[in-house]
Amino acid sequence: MLNVRILTEKVARVLAEEGIAPLCRRALSHLRGQRERDPFDVENGTETSGLEPLWKLSIDSPNARHGERYQATSPQELVSVLEYLGVDPASSTFIDLGCGKGRTLIVAARFGFGKVIGVEFAQELAATAQANLVSQRLDNAVVLRADAAEFTFPPGSKVIYLYNPFSEQVLAKVLDNLRAFRNDRLYVVYKSPRCARLLDECDFLQRHERAPRAPHIGIWRGVTAEARVTPEAVA
Ligand SMILES: C[S@@+](CC[C@H](N)C(=O)[O-])C[C@H]1O[C@@H](n2cnc3c(N)ncnc32)[C@H](O)[C@@H]1O
Repeated sequence: MLNVRILTEKVARVLAEEGIAPLCRRALSHLRGQRERDPFDVENGTETSGLEPLWKLSIDSPNARHGERYQATSPQELVSVLEYLGVDPASSTFIDLGCGKGRTLIVAARFGFGKVIGVEFAQELAATAQANLVSQRLDNAVVLRADAAEFTFPPGSKVIYLYNPFSEQVLAKVLDNLRAFRNDRLYVVYKSPRCARLLDECDFLQRHERAPRAPHIGIWRGVTAEARVTPEAVA
């Protein structure tokens, strides 16, 4: 399905915010991405490769215009961060907001998380993620076809994963929803953190050192208001 409205809004946004050269680069990488099947899929018999622009997909959400195309996280990079966090995976929930075809869900389930949840609003991607989980026989992992802005977080220890899935409008709503379920056993792991400012300003999160082997991934940890060290307090 070709969603001309999303395509037009997307081109206009990239052009206005980033300019013509990044727009051309995205178009080229999209064309290249259609042809490649990467080693993770060859090894596992899954379907998680490629770039999927949102205008090609069935999305029933006003937030489609704030969303980013599908592109998968490198498994090695994700494992490096998860090892670095040092959480006890068996007693934690891993949540990928904008899970796409579900590669991170497979990696997190194999890493040992007690529960793994993927949230994806594009029908085709959520269906592919579900099929991937079934093919890997991962019954501690689920995919919800939903808008991340509507997701209700579980209580307890959790690692929330974001790979630059959406812009500030949606992230602000996600943080509002998270507020009631915050605790000091919460991590937000954010690859290519375009909206890092919102997390830095969030009163229940504290920026954490990045993992040396995953420099493109930002990390924030849940804190109480009293324990939070603000940049002003440090200065
Ligand atoms: C860059 S991809 C990341 C895929 C996956 N998290 C990974 O790291 O392999 C971003 C994904 O977020 C999804 N997305 C964007 N906005 C969303 C929203 N509001 N609700 C749910 N999914 C969303 C897109 O459809 C896309 O699959």
